[in-house]
Amino acid sequence: MQDPVPVAAGPFKTILQNTSAFEKRVKRRISARPHVFFAVCPPGLGGVCEHEVSQVSPKAQEIFSNHDKISDIKVLPGGIEFKTRLKTACLANMLMGSATRLLMRFASFKADGFRRLEEQIKAVDWELYLPAETLPDIRVTTRKSRLYHSKAISDRISPILHDRLSLKDASRHHNTGPGISQTLMVRGENDRFELSLDMSGTPLYKRGIKEKVAKAPLRETLAFAILTRLGLSKKDTLVDPMCGSGTFSLEGAMMQCALPPGVFRSFAFETWPGFEKKSFAHARHRLMDAAGTHINTPNLPPILAQDLSQTAIDHLKQTCSGHRVFQRITPVCDDFFNMTPPPIKDSQGVVVLNPPYGIRLDKKNDISALYKEIGHKLIADFKGWRAAIISPGKKEFQALNLGLSTMPLFHGGLDLYTAIGRIGK
Ligand SMILES: C[S@@+](CC[C@H](N)C(=O)[O-])C[C@H]1O[C@@H](n2cnc3c(N)ncnc32)[C@H](O)[C@@H]1O
Repeated sequence: MQDPVPVAAGPFKTILQNTSAFEKRVKRRISARPHVFFAVCPPGLGGVCEHEVSQVSPKAQEIFSNHDKISDIKVLPGGIEFKTRLKTACLANMLMGSATRLLMRFASFKADGFRRLEEQIKAVDWELYLPAETLPDIRVTTRKSRLYHSKAISDRISPILHDRLSLKDASRHHNTGPGISQTLMVRGENDRFELSLDMSGTPLYKRGIKEKVAKAPLRETLAFAILTRLGLSKKDTLVDPMCGSGTFSLEGAMMQCALPPGVFRSFAFETWPGFEKKSFAHARHRLMDAAGTHINTPNLPPILAQDLSQTAIDHLKQTCSGHRVFQRITPVCDDFFNMTPPPIKDSQGVVVLNPPYGIRLDKKNDISALYKEIGHKLIADFKGWRAAIISPGKKEFQALNLGLSTMPLFHGGLDLYTAIGRIGK
């Protein structure tokens, strides 16, 4: 005979009732409804980012077997706005390669004075959005608003959050480790304020893969967007001859095996009350399993990562030992100008170059001379390959003399002219 199910009594019963009442509120107000989200992306990546947003709902439907859709996709300055449920937006954080972070927009109101601001902040059900005892960092920006002093605005908001999130001791707030910091963004324009929570925490270009990084690493978001523009497929041999910490090679290895860029990292939303831990873990496992079948495909073409710096190559070897998806990468210490490209079939070759820039090189201190030489080398040995060469300016782009198109990008405070296309066409 089975033991009788114990019945909660006294104060314990009250706690259980309160817990389930709270969970029901979270479900009704947060999980079951669509909300507005915003994928922040670097300048020049709007098109790639918009396409990625549109690809999230089919993936979510496949993984969660639901009919959750992404709607109202809008390209806005600085990123892409869209509407969906929290569960799908959480998945978007893991799937998207070009976004810097995802924000959840959750309140909007008019306030032309501190009293109105405080009333509106008090009206938000903070405990449904943020975990207890977590005081978020508050970032305020305002334009053309009567309330314009960022510090004064955040000083009014902070005690309300402190109170509402039962923060007994401010030193206990959780903004310490990677992936779990919480940030509240307050944006005011023409006296209308918009509140957003940063879902991602650590920026999404930090994939949680590299332990050691060489000098001047490329942002993963840019590498992802460039490889996407080149249409990297799993039939392509990828060559990254000035690889540094190997951003192109690592992104390429994941893309070719359909491994989502954020699969190895954590996110700020993982501590939110509305986060559905089990279904997110299920999604992570399914995506990893699916990638596993690609990784085991025989005859996947090689990824060749080369650099003059032995230290960079040592770091990359260490990174590649972290997961078997990266074991296809062959890091070699050598000069690009000595490289003999691996043989390719049917023009299925992609070469990506991120030469040193922003520093003076030899060649009579003229960086254009290096770009000219790169152009010669590519024409001589990489005819028919699809290529992207990151150039710090128009002069260097022209020095390549490859007749390629440009993909405008912004990185490290510079407007870049990335040359992109097929060599010798
Ligand atoms: C801007 S960094 C590349 C950064 C890299 N994309 C990353 O994400 O870390 C330029 C790299 O080119 C390498 N390099 C410079 N001249 C080279 C050459 N002739 N052959 C191979 N590598 C070279 C440098 O050692 C440096 O690591």
